Amino acid sequence: TVLVLDFGSQYSHLITRRLREFNVYAEMLPCTQKIKDLTWKPKGIILSGGPYSVFAEDAPHVDHDIFDLGVPILGICYGMQELAWINGKGVARGDKREYGPAVINVEDKTSPLFKDVDNSTVWMSHHDKLSSLPTGFKTIATSTNSPFAAIGHAEKPIFGLQFHPEVTHSVQGKFLLRNFAIDICKCKNDWSMENFIDTEISRIRALVGPTAEVIGAVSGGVDSTVAAKLMTEAIGDRFHAILVDNGVLRLNEAANVKKTLTEGLGIDLTVIDASEEFLGKLKGITDPEKKRKIIGHTFIHVFEREAAKIKPSHEGEEIEFLLQGTLYPDVIESISFKGPSQTIKTHHNVGGLLDDMKLKLIEPLRELFKDEVRHLGELLGISHDLVWRHPFPGPGIAIRVLGEVTKEQVEIARKADHIYIEEIKKFGLYEKISQAFACLLPVKTVGVMGDQRVYEQVIALRAIETIDFMTADWFVFEAKFLKHVSSRIVNEVDGVARVVYDITSKPPATVEWE
Ligand code: XMP
Repeated sequence: TVLVLDFGSQYSHLITRRLREFNVYAEMLPCTQKIKDLTWKPKGIILSGGPYSVFAEDAPHVDHDIFDLGVPILGICYGMQELAWINGKGVARGDKREYGPAVINVEDKTSPLFKDVDNSTVWMSHHDKLSSLPTGFKTIATSTNSPFAAIGHAEKPIFGLQFHPEVTHSVQGKFLLRNFAIDICKCKNDWSMENFIDTEISRIRALVGPTAEVIGAVSGGVDSTVAAKLMTEAIGDRFHAILVDNGVLRLNEAANVKKTLTEGLGIDLTVIDASEEFLGKLKGITDPEKKRKIIGHTFIHVFEREAAKIKPSHEGEEIEFLLQGTLYPDVIESISFKGPSQTIKTHHNVGGLLDDMKLKLIEPLRELFKDEVRHLGELLGISHDLVWRHPFPGPGIAIRVLGEVTKEQVEIARKADHIYIEEIKKFGLYEKISQAFACLLPVKTVGVMGDQRVYEQVIALRAIETIDFMTADWFVFEAKFLKHVSSRIVNEVDGVARVVYDITSKPPATVEWE
């Protein structure tokens, strides 16, 4: 295992990801990790980049014990400046940022770090830079602006890179990480999703022990379903899933999830119909953030109440753990160096549960990215359709019924959404689109149906393409598709007189309308 010490770069998580692509396992911890507290010995250490200047008073610094482990070390960007800083000199305050592509010249072709790596484009993103070589180091590669683009210690396996090998813009960067992990650190390259399942099941069994039981909320989405299935594989009927029907789920969702999880996947699932309770609390509320808060709080309340009613499957056992399907992108910020209080971040949909319930947290997916979770789901036998489902927000249709949320309004939005998604699937577009949904606008508009003047509401359709949901572009449908969907919605959904398509990207708009 390679230990990645995170100094807070936006790219840090990509380091572990790239290594896994070469079947090498890496674990990321905050840069302030004390080496004496590690329960395992890493075969190598990577110091990530970070947004700080080593000159800043509050700049984070690494535990100097890393040098006593005698394992190879690779510093990336800030990580390299940190190595130079520890060696007493060599860092210069940058007077201008260097950001973007640069071409490196490999000067020392014998360096094991640069095996199979040629002069090529790399991605720079830094402020400070090395002004001179730290004691004992040699130059391996240069670039026009960085005479020390890559450096290595003359005797020890310690390396520094000014650029970011982990981003895809560094064309051959991943080979540097591979060379470091496999050739220099001698890490085994036997990580695979299949053996991730085996090791994770063993880890869950060891953590939960022979008698404790686990509960967890499921939503019908891929993350919670994969986590629940993995848990069921590990501890069978000692895992209990709960689906809270909040009254703003998609059409027939609770019944469909019950069928898929119970019959299809053998998961012990209890469905709680709390729709009246949620809709009651949402009465009269139009502010989107208030809707979110009400749904979040009510969820915690209902979940705690219902979880307390779940009886352990076996006599003498006790529910001690709460399962959460937290993914890597959810934990990135939480492992920042700013202190132990941030080491566990509860998922935004169920945030707050842990404090009250006195349960211990179990997060089997916390190392994985979304596409890896999908791969895992497929290996666990979860259907292709569920594994590739679009994300659905915790507050559900409540933020897709603009204005006040009533049962009748939810019903209209739900039916329109169902038709829209059904047609997207029929046209073979579902997996080309990252997320699609219908929202119900709180305005009335005039129409004419069967010689009658009608005065009814508007459905807005949204479909986006995105990698990370931070930025998104609207999906370009063929006119034929839009015509067909519009006609079906107006004909089949009572209360709708008009359909519009949202042609705004994010930014400036967000994905959801509220
Ligand atoms: P926005 O609207 O912020 O959406 O551009 C980005 C992604 O986040 C989802 N989203 C939410 N998910 N609770 C959630 O669990 C929420 O309150 C929430 N708001 C937005 C949205 O569906 C999209 O995928």
